[in-house]
Amino acid sequence: MRIAVVGGGYVGLVTGACFAELGHTVDIVEIDAGKAAAINAGRAPIHERGLDALLAKHAGVRLRAGTDYGPVALSDLAFICVGTPPAADGSADLSMVAAASRSIGEALREGKGAHTVVVKSTVPPGTTENLVAPTVGNHSHRADTGFAMNPEFLREGRAVEDFLHPDRIVIGSRDGRSGDTVAAAYTGVSAPVVRCGLTAAEMIKYASNALLATKISFANEVGNVCKRLGIDVYEVMQGVGMDHRVSPHFLDAGAGFGGSCFPKDVAALVSLAEGLGEEPALLRSVLDVNDRQPLRMVRMLEERIGDLAGKRVAVLGLAFKDNTDDIREARAVPVIAGLLQRGAAVAAYDPLAAASMRRVFPGIDYAASAADALRGADACLVMTEWPEFSTLNGEFDLMNSRIVIEGRRILSCDGKEGICW
Ligand code: UDX
Repeated sequence: MRIAVVGGGYVGLVTGACFAELGHTVDIVEIDAGKAAAINAGRAPIHERGLDALLAKHAGVRLRAGTDYGPVALSDLAFICVGTPPAADGSADLSMVAAASRSIGEALREGKGAHTVVVKSTVPPGTTENLVAPTVGNHSHRADTGFAMNPEFLREGRAVEDFLHPDRIVIGSRDGRSGDTVAAAYTGVSAPVVRCGLTAAEMIKYASNALLATKISFANEVGNVCKRLGIDVYEVMQGVGMDHRVSPHFLDAGAGFGGSCFPKDVAALVSLAEGLGEEPALLRSVLDVNDRQPLRMVRMLEERIGDLAGKRVAVLGLAFKDNTDDIREARAVPVIAGLLQRGAAVAAYDPLAAASMRRVFPGIDYAASAADALRGADACLVMTEWPEFSTLNGEFDLMNSRIVIEGRRILSCDGKEGICW
């Protein structure tokens, strides 16, 4: 098949590279000429395991990138993979989806035959039906254009693996041919396929992320009670997660969830529900619990060592999770802000994300290693589950006192004498 992918960001690039790996001819339409050039040169502009190997194999062969929408006219399928950032009120900003739909519509005036426009961006339920389809239709007038919605469930750091070995493939469509065409594009991927309507597919994506976020906030709320009782929430959640109806995943308590998806998608679902006249009490609480967790860590530290003014605090981990340099909604941000507000001096360390965090907090110390951050520190907060932290032990002897608060359970037991979640 010939596939066009509109948007060469994290989702679009992984999607394009993986479809090339499945044997399709892929054109990525990316407005940033620099990014397009990097893709054509086989260089991934993002850090994602396995992506460099796919680009090395397919760039310039089956995978091409450019700023022009021309390849859309020749394609069988065009995937919309543009961003849907949060607007000021928490709702999803759909301006990039609208612009991509318009440009696809204009491109489809050229070429002929059946074509399917597929939305992969995470969009509020109703968007494909009420925004994308009419916008494409108004500009193209190509009779045989179908629409589908095929959400992604890609975890950062594991996106290539998640694309090629998914738990399921969700395909929403309003006509059978469009759904069949999308399903055919995944030939070679072994996973159950869920076929449904456009709006249900959009809702599956929101509801999946909201449920995972809910599990984390639930574990955090239980964890806060466990702490009062002097028991270990990890032990408790291990026992809870062994029930197959619950599953052991996404029950790790700590600093809460960050990243580009969970906070934004839950907020967008809250906004959607409110707009429909609903009172999304549970979803609001999921965000509320999550907002409180980082500052609880700062308060726990105060309870332990008193006034933070003039104290040196090591912050280990700045990325929103391990294996990424992404600091979007990272829990380290409110924690560092809270520490600075109380007059503490911060020594931060992250294997990948220090450069990104320097733009947010230019005035704090950035250490070259965990040991350097810990040297002379009065306390330590662990904010990211980097595997390299699991082997820290003697490094804590470099601190003035071994007070460690883990926002992610990653340290080995001998390494810490302090507080853990
Ligand atoms: C998530 C979804 O997993 C993915 O399916 C979706 O398409 C995009 O959003 P991602 O943002 O890459 O992926 O991160 P994920 O690995 O899910 O973790 C999100 C956050 O939750 C991280 O900050 C992580 O540290 C935190 N987390 C995760 C917990 O606090 N506890 C857990 O048990 C699991």
